[in-house]
Amino acid sequence: MTEPDFLRSTRASYDAVAAEYAKIFHHELAGKPLDRAMFAAFAELVRAGGGPVADIGSGPGRVTEHLHGLGLEVFGVDLSPEMVALARRTHPGLRFEVGSMLALDLPDGGLGGLVANYSIIHLPEDRLPGAFAEFHRVLAPGGHLLVAFQVGDERKHLTERFGRRIDLEFHRRRPDHVADLLVKAGFAMTAQLVREPMEGSTEPTQQACLLARRPA
Ligand SMILES: C[S@@+](CC[C@H](N)C(=O)[O-])C[C@H]1O[C@@H](n2cnc3c(N)ncnc32)[C@H](O)[C@@H]1O
Repeated sequence: MTEPDFLRSTRASYDAVAAEYAKIFHHELAGKPLDRAMFAAFAELVRAGGGPVADIGSGPGRVTEHLHGLGLEVFGVDLSPEMVALARRTHPGLRFEVGSMLALDLPDGGLGGLVANYSIIHLPEDRLPGAFAEFHRVLAPGGHLLVAFQVGDERKHLTERFGRRIDLEFHRRRPDHVADLLVKAGFAMTAQLVREPMEGSTEPTQQACLLARRPA
């Protein structure tokens, strides 16, 4: 089957910027207490039910490592082989695999939790239901989902980042719209955080973090 163009260009773009992205975002969570609070709540919910966690679109593995530090058995999956190689070098004790959230190489119902931290932002609108169906399929009944993304209505096309030429689409989204799609995919909503951009950060918009669960 031929791969859609957006996956090819997203992969090539993140391959090109992997090293710079890792350097810039390495310590980012340290300055984001509300993001850490949502990860902490997610971790507590998952620990209560048990089961492994997949960090989907794990990039350099900074969130994977953070979740590991919260006591979760976690592994990462990313579209970009360069990101996966970098994550493996940086976090040799954790597992990272190349893969796409649209066709996860994971069995049905095997996960206690799934995190997609700023990775659905590169999916075209018509691909969101397919991704959420995959998330639902791989989570065990009672499993928990965390999805974070920038709030807004814009679709942007980036041709340069960190001095590298790229070809990357990203989408800002309304939390209620994403929550509607999650419910249509079979999830029950747990919580929605919308926070203002952090002072002194490069964030141009509000940021959303949604918690949902596959009903038991
Ligand atoms: C903005 S980065 C976020 C990385 C990481 N979650 C973090 O918070 O640092 C987006 C990541 O999602 C990955 N990605 C984009 N589309 C993907 C897909 N269809 N399947 C898996 N990963 C994807 C990219 O390769 C990139 O590493």
